[in-house]
Order: sequence, then C-alpha cells, then structure tokens
Amino acid sequence: MFDRFRRTRINPTLRNLLRETKVSVDDFIYPLFVRSGEGIKTEVASMPGVYQMSLDEVLKECSELSKLGLNSIILFGIPDVKDSIGSDSLCEHGIIANAVREIKKEYPDMFVVTDLCFCEYTDHGHCGIIDENETVNNDATLEISAQQAIIHAKAGVDMIAPSGMMDGIIVTLRETLDGAGYENLPIMSYSTKFASGYYGPFRDVAESTPSFGDRSSYQMDPANRREAIAESISDELQGADILMVKPVLAYLDIVREIKDATSLPMAVYNVSGEYAMLKMAGMNDLIDYDRVVMETMISFKRAGADIIISYHAKEVALMLKDQK
Ligand code: PBG
Ligand code: ZN
Repeated sequence: MFDRFRRTRINPTLRNLLRETKVSVDDFIYPLFVRSGEGIKTEVASMPGVYQMSLDEVLKECSELSKLGLNSIILFGIPDVKDSIGSDSLCEHGIIANAVREIKKEYPDMFVVTDLCFCEYTDHGHCGIIDENETVNNDATLEISAQQAIIHAKAGVDMIAPSGMMDGIIVTLRETLDGAGYENLPIMSYSTKFASGYYGPFRDVAESTPSFGDRSSYQMDPANRREAIAESISDELQGADILMVKPVLAYLDIVREIKDATSLPMAVYNVSGEYAMLKMAGMNDLIDYDRVVMETMISFKRAGADIIISYHAKEVALMLKDQK
C-alpha cells in the first residue's frame, strides 16, 4: 500500500519509461587487434570471440560492425618486428598507420581511435623507453609518444588514446598536436589506469607481457582512491578531452567519484580479464551469459560512464538489435 515503486513496476512500458539507465549501441567503442598478412583471423585462446586480424579481415569486420550500428573502434597493432623503442609505431607505414589510412578510406564514417603506447611494439614489452637500470624513462618516452601521435594524426585518426600513463603525456601531446595543426583532434586519456591482473589475456593477444619487471612504476596501486581521482584531475588540467578508468568492474566506486569530481566525459575500459571471466562462465553454462553481460554494461553506465570500451560491444549490439 505504501510502496509507490511497486505500482510503477507492473506495466512493462511504464517500467521502461522510468528506467534510469539505458544501454545503447552508441555507448560503445570496440577494440580490434591488427596484424600483418592476408586472410588471417586467429582467435585468442584466452578470449574466445576476440581475434587478431590482418587488415583485409579488419575491413570486413568494419562492414559488419557498421551494419550493427557500431561505428566506433579502437585499434591495437601487433607489428612483425618489435625492438627496444617500438620503431614500427613511429613509421608512416607501420601496422597502425596503415590500418587507420585503409579503414578511413573505405569507411569514412567509422570513428577510429588509436591506442597510443609502446608495449605492443617493444621487444621488452614495457610502455616506453627503458633505462640501463631497467626502469621506464618518462621524458624520453614523452618525446617518442609525440612522434607516434603525429604518425596517427597524419594517417587520419579521429581520436588518440594515450595508455602508457607517463607523467605529462597529455600536455605534451596537446601541444604537439596543436603545433602541427591538429587542434581539433581529441585526446581520450587512460587517466586512471591501475596496475592490474585483469590485463592478462590482453597481453596474450598483443604479445606484450613485459619480459622483466612489471608496470607498477607507471600504473596505479589498486588500493589508492585519492591518487586515482588526482590522476584523472591532473589529466583534465593538462587538456584531456575524455577521462578513463581501467579496469572497471573492481573500480566502479572510482568511476563514480571521478565523474562527480569533473565535468569531462568519462570512459571505462572493460578489460580482457573481465571479458574472459564472463565468457568462460557463460561457455560452461554457469551463468545466463547475455543477461549477465547486459547487467554488467548497465552497472558501468549507472556508475557514470559515458563511453564503454568493451570486447562485448559487438555481442551487445546484436542483443540490442534482437530486442527491437
Ligand atoms: C597498452 C594497453 C593495455 C590495455 C589497453 N592498452 C595493456 C596493459 O596495460 O598491459 C589493456 C586492455 C585489456 O586488458 O583489455 N598499454
Ligand atoms: Zn602500454
């Protein structure tokens, strides 16, 4: 009698009218892994449904995605040759530059984002240049990051997403892009990125597991809440256009807190290990996969995410299509 919410739950149309959080295909950016060759589409063992693809296969994928209304992708490159400074990523005919050019040529309406980092391109698997004492040299990495940004910009990328968490990366990239005439190219910063065990499967796909040490000197301690907020605010002040929390499932409190502390849009990265957990549980019939995926996507939006970067994006697009 006194619970007004009960009354409004009965009719499904009214329930839908009152739903506070909705998931749409427009919320998503879909990650794609590009490698060289032709006709290659290799499924990643730790991430069923996720593939390393050669460029011709990526182009076919783009056609499928746009039919589903999924028009944003983030690209990761797997170069043929890795070296100490990630040279492939600094060259106009490297794997990513080629991919961006070809995709934008065939699918000009596809919104193409590039992950800007070095771990996929270096033989040691770290996110930057390594010193004699086996630590990442922040400032030397800033210099080559600026070079990589210009390579991506020239290839025609729509947004860059620096993921290495180097100090001063955002202001460096903003000044570099502005100086080169790319004032309108947005930067989505991996602003609050935790040193996380959830990246395990990604490192299989990108073949980027560090050959020594770990990333805890440049990625954040999962225990630190105030530092997490400060890292994102620092990137806002440096000129980032979009902030990010990564991973997301174990950090929904941080998403909400940063959202409340900034006026910038927020992205979340639903990472490889999070995808793998649901996938494996679903494949073993332990959960109703589609239902749990949707419930999880809603939790991201409820926490404050404007953008969801997720390996589930294509499946979600299909689910949303079937609902209609
Ligand atoms: C590159 C990068 C990583 C991810 C996105 N960009 C790997 C890492 O930091 O080790 C992780 C994505 C995922 O786990 O899905 N720095
Ligand atoms: Zn990296």
